[in-house]
Amino acid sequence: MKQAHASASADKYSRVSMGLHWLTVVLVAALYAIGWYMVELPKGPARGEAFALHKSIGLTVLLVTVCRLGWRACVPPPPLPTTIARWQRLLATSVHHLFYVLLVLQPLMGYLSSSFSPYPTSYFGMPLPDWGEHNPTVNEFFTELHVAGSVGLLLVIALHVLGALSHAFTAGDRLVRRMLPW
Ligand code: HEM
Ligand code: HEM
Repeated sequence: MKQAHASASADKYSRVSMGLHWLTVVLVAALYAIGWYMVELPKGPARGEAFALHKSIGLTVLLVTVCRLGWRACVPPPPLPTTIARWQRLLATSVHHLFYVLLVLQPLMGYLSSSFSPYPTSYFGMPLPDWGEHNPTVNEFFTELHVAGSVGLLLVIALHVLGALSHAFTAGDRLVRRMLPW
């Protein structure tokens, strides 16, 4: 039993999966920092620049997530050790799936909100097409979904990080190392 545990939890994610995971963490942290900061700024060039940066980084998260899902389809994640309680495996897997749904929907809601606003959408300076004409009601609708999505994603991140930390510090297994290059 002990040996099965050790060998199963020694299974690691691929280097590419780890790279994409930690890149996503850095980008998403930047999105919250810029997102909360920019909405407090007064109208003006600084606000416009912060919004443009937020949109570009957000669309990068969408690209990274699409790459991640493609990579995951080719190189499936290592199975969770059966020594971990079934409900915990189910919860962890559901959280991972929910992450992928939110990491695709959240940038799309942002793009839609921006599309129906009076402001342009661009990707690091490259203008992008809008999905419709400026419409305050539709803009408000997608903005509310985007803000609600940011709260939802934050709750899922909290659950995920608590799970990871509990494995690192209390469960005494090597699960967290599966996502660490060392
Ligand atoms: C995973 C990706 C993203 C995350 C986690 C994220 C997160 C956030 C957060 C935390 C805020 C501040 C919300 C608040 O007022 O409390 C925000 C606002 C906003 N985001 Fe994003 N965002 C993402 C992607 C995008 C993308 C791709 C775009 C557009 C192309 C975008 C456009 C906007 C806009 C226009 C606002 C301002 C909404 C308002 O007027 O209140 N976001 N985002
Ligand atoms: C923006 C924040 C984060 C997001 C969006 C995120 C997303 C994900 C996703 C989607 C997976 C599943 C990978 C797969 O099987 O395809 C995963 C796995 C993992 N994450 Fe995160 N994560 C975040 C932050 C963190 C942090 C801060 C930690 C460390 C404290 C962490 C530790 C892990 C570990 C250890 C795994 C592997 C779990 C296993 O062994 O199966 N994550 N993460």
